[in-house]
Amino acid sequence: MKKKVVVVGYGGMGGWHTEKLLKSDVAELKGVYDIKPERNQLAESRGIYAYPSFEAVLADPEVELVTVAIPNDVHRPVVIQALEAGKNVICEKPVALSSEDLDAMIAAAEKAGKKFAVHQNRRFDVDFLAMKKIHDSGEIGEIFNIESRIHGSRGIPSDWRGQKEFGGGMLYDWGVHLIDQMLQIYTEKIEKLYCRFENLTNFEVDDGFKLELTFEKGKKAYIEVGTLNFIAMPRFYMQGMKGTAMITDWRENAKVVKCKAWHESDVVPVETAAGLTKTMAPRDSITIDEYEVERPVSDVHDYYRNFIDAIDGKAEQLVTHAQMRRVLKVMEAAFKSVELGQVIDFVE
Ligand SMILES: NC(=O)c1ccc[n+]([C@@H]2O[C@H](COP(=O)([O-])OP(=O)(O)OC[C@H]3O[C@@H](n4cnc5c(N)ncnc54)[C@H](O)[C@@H]3O)[C@@H](O)[C@H]2O)c1
Repeated sequence: MKKKVVVVGYGGMGGWHTEKLLKSDVAELKGVYDIKPERNQLAESRGIYAYPSFEAVLADPEVELVTVAIPNDVHRPVVIQALEAGKNVICEKPVALSSEDLDAMIAAAEKAGKKFAVHQNRRFDVDFLAMKKIHDSGEIGEIFNIESRIHGSRGIPSDWRGQKEFGGGMLYDWGVHLIDQMLQIYTEKIEKLYCRFENLTNFEVDDGFKLELTFEKGKKAYIEVGTLNFIAMPRFYMQGMKGTAMITDWRENAKVVKCKAWHESDVVPVETAAGLTKTMAPRDSITIDEYEVERPVSDVHDYYRNFIDAIDGKAEQLVTHAQMRRVLKVMEAAFKSVELGQVIDFVE
């Protein structure tokens, strides 16, 4: 039988969840609840039942799962209340504003014996999956550098995302996705990190950031989010000892250039306006293979399918508590690095 779900918070992302749940093969949307009456009225005008209060959601014994899609600062109390009422909970990202808050949420889940996870939906993005596949296949040799960027040009949104008290800022908003993805690609331990914030259109929270991570064996990751980039840099850039992979834009396929012969017969120097270079000359085409990687098949609703299987004891939940905590620890260390203007030693 389909699990009955209520979405708490019927804003942008709450609306997304309801659309997916209305078409779900594993879950049934029982209704929504939003703190703003006009959002509840909107839901009802679309034929979705709106609960009169959060307490009414919690008191409904048919509801097995609550999806929390409200601003970041209120995740903790709402999630804990739902868990204490015996509901399983999916919480939007970032799951909490600190690892201390997360630990309280995990403790509530364990005490109630209920499932609880953050909605890391971007684990289903095909650009990320393509990069992970290339990394894991070893086809471009040992990977020593991965760069992951998201660039927009509209500044930070003018809603709560621009305000500190609601847990705004791009590190919390987009950083959490890109950090989680990076930690799914590299399996090594993190040793150091350094972060810088940008405040170009907003001075209260970061409207962009640049985060460098050093993993064991000197492997590097670079994560960047920008909201004032009228020309975007590649979405992903990955270097291995035998080749390079790149995705220019998340709608594009991954391109790979693989080296099949290190030595070239006769490198023709390139003449630039003011000089000559052999080092930077393009490679002889007979020494490389160039190809595109087919887009992996992905269905973001597998997130719900997995979570519901986890409730039924048929699977381990995709996003574990340990992974949630690790991502938050990285974000906390990034805030610390910005505050001190220093590289932070990361202890795992
Ligand atoms: N995973 C993703 O891809 C993704 C994308 C966008 C947003 N999000 C996350 O979803 C959450 C919501 O973001 P959004 O863009 O939908 O924001 P939003 O402002 O569009 O909607 C939030 C809604 O929550 C309601 N609300 C606030 N406090 C509430 C409470 N205590 N109880 C019930 N309703 C309450 C507001 O009235 C509003 O309608 C955030 O945590 C955000 O980071 C995730």
